[in-house]
Amino acid sequence: MKVKAIELKNYRNYESLDFRPDKNINIIYGNNAQGKTNILESLYLAATSKSHRINKDSELIENGKDEAHIKVVIEKNSLEYRIDMHLKKHGKKGIAINAIPIKKAVDLYGIINVVMFSPEDIIMLKGGPEAKRRYIDMEISQISKLYLENLINYNKVLGQRNALLKKIHFEGKSQDLEMLDVWDLQMIKYGSLVIEERIKFINHLSQLVGQIHSNISDGKEKLEIIYEPSTQIDDFDKSLKAKRDNDIRLKYSSLGPHRDDLRFLINDKDTKFYGSQGQIRTVALSLKLAEIKIIRDIIHDDPILLLDDVMSELDEIRQDKLLNTIGDIQTLITCTGIGEFINSRISVDRIFEVINGQVFEINGNSLEV
Ligand SMILES: Nc1ncnc2c1ncn2[C@@H]1O[C@H](COP(=O)(O)OP(=O)(O)OP(=O)(O)O)[C@@H](O)[C@H]1O
Ligand SMILES: [Mg+2]
Repeated sequence: MKVKAIELKNYRNYESLDFRPDKNINIIYGNNAQGKTNILESLYLAATSKSHRINKDSELIENGKDEAHIKVVIEKNSLEYRIDMHLKKHGKKGIAINAIPIKKAVDLYGIINVVMFSPEDIIMLKGGPEAKRRYIDMEISQISKLYLENLINYNKVLGQRNALLKKIHFEGKSQDLEMLDVWDLQMIKYGSLVIEERIKFINHLSQLVGQIHSNISDGKEKLEIIYEPSTQIDDFDKSLKAKRDNDIRLKYSSLGPHRDDLRFLINDKDTKFYGSQGQIRTVALSLKLAEIKIIRDIIHDDPILLLDDVMSELDEIRQDKLLNTIGDIQTLITCTGIGEFINSRISVDRIFEVINGQVFEINGNSLEV
């Protein structure tokens, strides 16, 4: 699939942008804080309804404005799709696909597939369980709407259960305890589905990423991803009951997929504690190459690749591995200087410079709007 246009209005530091990338390799360069990542972020948002770096939509709207608009046009299987997103400072965002409004963000998933390699991946690998769950949830959601639906339902039930735990904590009524049984059953139902999908996906990802990483490290490093669920499916019911009194005391649910963790092991050692910077970057690269393969296998098409400021951090061998995979995947690469590409093997199709929320195409030596 290829993105044909990204149009932004009052998005971050873009008052107005009409960006039309090449169908192959694009370089978006500029000094720090000019708006390079903002462009990639807007495409990620159109693909997933979420930013890759923040949770609050209001931060995406240009300071001082009440609304932002994002329009993305993509082409896949010879068909054109237009995503319109309308962000509001006060109120829920509106999304339309080919001018037809959708009610649930879930419906957006699967129209645009992106693989994004950004500094946030490094943060995730070094970070705690929450960042890791977010990563895995975004990855599975991009290929399984059912997973996302189960996850949304699980989170709803979790919210209800936590509210009830709080009520019981303060009021201690017996009929509320009966209601807790009902929420427990719902939590087990959706939670088990989430755990099941996570097991399947992580096993598959671990296998792929292991092969890729071994290849990049010349067979010296064995990378494994270990899923650590906070409960096994078979023990869910029993463990939930065992934790019940504790949960009432804490006023929240201390067990379930919202407490799961992931570990990335290189030669059996946790990269979070033992990985060098280069190793962590290589793990991130291996993950991205595996994600591309997983998406390709499922949709029989290429995702759009977004490389945010990561090329200069990779050595030549790793850059080559990445470039070999790109083939004719449409790629948007951000960087602070274009010097690094002049001597590299990469054949750049179009170059853009971003200056303070404006994008100029570099055409020979002149700047063109
Ligand atoms: N809601 C907003 N309204 C206006 N400007 C914003 C908003 N959010 C972010 N910005 C501005 O956007 C710029 C940052 O954009 P972005 O993250 O795309 O930079 P970048 O070019 O990728 O920089 P770097 O090279 O440092 O990664 C900053 O100048 C920031 O002040
Ligand atoms: Mg940036």
